[in-house]
Amino acid sequence: MNFEFSLIMNKIKSILVAGLVLTIGLVSCDSGDIRRSPGHIYAPDMTYSRAYDAYTASPNFEDSMSSRLPVTGTIARGHQLPDHLKEGDTIAYKSMVAPMHFSAAEVKEGGRLFSIYCGICHGTNLDGQGPLFASGKFASMPANFKDAKYLHMPIGQMYGAVKYGKNMMGSYASQLDIRQRWMVIAYIKKFQSANGGDAFTLGEVDAAPVAKADTAKAVAVK
Ligand code: HEC
Repeated sequence: MNFEFSLIMNKIKSILVAGLVLTIGLVSCDSGDIRRSPGHIYAPDMTYSRAYDAYTASPNFEDSMSSRLPVTGTIARGHQLPDHLKEGDTIAYKSMVAPMHFSAAEVKEGGRLFSIYCGICHGTNLDGQGPLFASGKFASMPANFKDAKYLHMPIGQMYGAVKYGKNMMGSYASQLDIRQRWMVIAYIKKFQSANGGDAFTLGEVDAAPVAKADTAKAVAVK
């Protein structure tokens, strides 16, 4: 056996050994995840769910899905506020009729959320002079809600901006849920009505703590 040949044989051997080690490793990992085999089980009914786990097959339904889709035509609790329009439905957003009502506490909460998420650009005085813009770090002028251009802006258009963003302004859909987005808009609209805007219709000062939404009318978009 010449020297070069034994070198090649050695290489092949080490590749085979490495492959073997890897295979054993993978097989042993496959022996079930830790949650499924906890070793000693004191209370099996707590360790193993008696309910069907999400995304596992269920024999109880024809389509065998254990995670069910919402029943057609129903709206989940807390999701009854208008949110059905898609990005770019500009005309529908502008003509959105949404007789929602928020309690005074909720409008106040909208103000708190505004100062967290929007004030940095739009300013706590809602004049578009937030610290990010005023300091020159953000080149694009945020909407000045005191300006005539925005005083009468339809609520749906505002909602679209919060949900999808507008030019340099990003979307706030992941930070604010549907109710919170509308609460922020109620806050802006209340402020605007005290500064020359339309009458404030989104709030009821003495309303019950939970905001009411007239679902039937709320989705009546022209
Ligand atoms: C990073 C800065 C920034 C933040 C934060 C920000 N905005 Fe804006 N916003 C802008 C800019 C810039 C514009 C102007 C966009 C344009 O017309 O080009 C704007 C425009 C708007 C408009 C007008 C949309 C239209 O159709 O003209 C609304 C309404 C609005 N913002 C609401 C909000 C609300 C509510 C929040 C907080 C949830 C928020 N913005 C957070 C920068 C910001």
